[in-house]
Amino acid sequence: MALRLVLVLVLTLWVGCVPCRGREVAPTQLRAQCQASRYPIAVDCFWTLPPAPNSSRPTSFIATYRLGVAARGESWPCLQLTPEATSCTIPNVQMFSLVPYVLNVTAVHPRGVSSSFVPFVPEHIIKPDPPEGVRLSLLPGQRLWVQWEPPRSWPFPEIFSLKYRIRYKRHGAAHFRQVGPIEATSFTLKAVRPRAKYCIQVAAQDLTDYGESSAWSLPATPSVTLGK
Ligand SMILES: *[C@@H]1O[C@H](CO)[C@@H](O)[C@H](O)[C@H]1NC(C)=O
Ligand SMILES: *[C@@H]1O[C@H](CO)[C@@H](O)[C@H](O)[C@H]1NC(C)=O
Repeated sequence: MALRLVLVLVLTLWVGCVPCRGREVAPTQLRAQCQASRYPIAVDCFWTLPPAPNSSRPTSFIATYRLGVAARGESWPCLQLTPEATSCTIPNVQMFSLVPYVLNVTAVHPRGVSSSFVPFVPEHIIKPDPPEGVRLSLLPGQRLWVQWEPPRSWPFPEIFSLKYRIRYKRHGAAHFRQVGPIEATSFTLKAVRPRAKYCIQVAAQDLTDYGESSAWSLPATPSVTLGK
């Protein structure tokens, strides 16, 4: 009984203490993230901040980055188009750095200043844009030829190769089927049903598995030469 009483007391005290935390600084609502969709030319960072209620002046941001987590390291500006922009670019990415980068975004608004820090390793945040120009041609023998190009934003596809996954679904079917990854920029789908319509999309990922896969491309459209 005594133990239970103590437990209840402790719980009550603990619960009673929670409001005391209100004196701490409210957690920042600034949310930032960085992505390398044009590795290794640049890293792009962007952030969101809920609009300040009743504010007539727009919030401005100071974005800087350092190499390494040590607070005393030299910092450089992350390039913004305007101080109000909610994105910035880190040029000249150092590849395979042994220490992470740290982005420091500081929002300056009438109610004060709040910062958000994003540590990252460029190779780990690679995410290509989706492949482009995905198109279909009908080949003899109930086959569909799907072709595409690497995303134009990926600067050196010959050096930093991409691999691709293809997903396709017959119009009316419940699920996609997936093939790949393959390194080629075309794929032949065999034994397609005559006159059936297919939704076909392609996604790209760094060949060496760094980072994550792109979003799915726009659905393939019939190639202009089709039927000519
Ligand atoms: C919002 O603006 C109005 C008019 O400028 C002012 O009267 C009011 O006190 C402001 N509210 C807050 C929460 O700042
Ligand atoms: C982050 O940037 C702000 C604005 O430049 C600066 O005042 C602050 O000291 C920086 N914080 C760290 C930990 O570097």
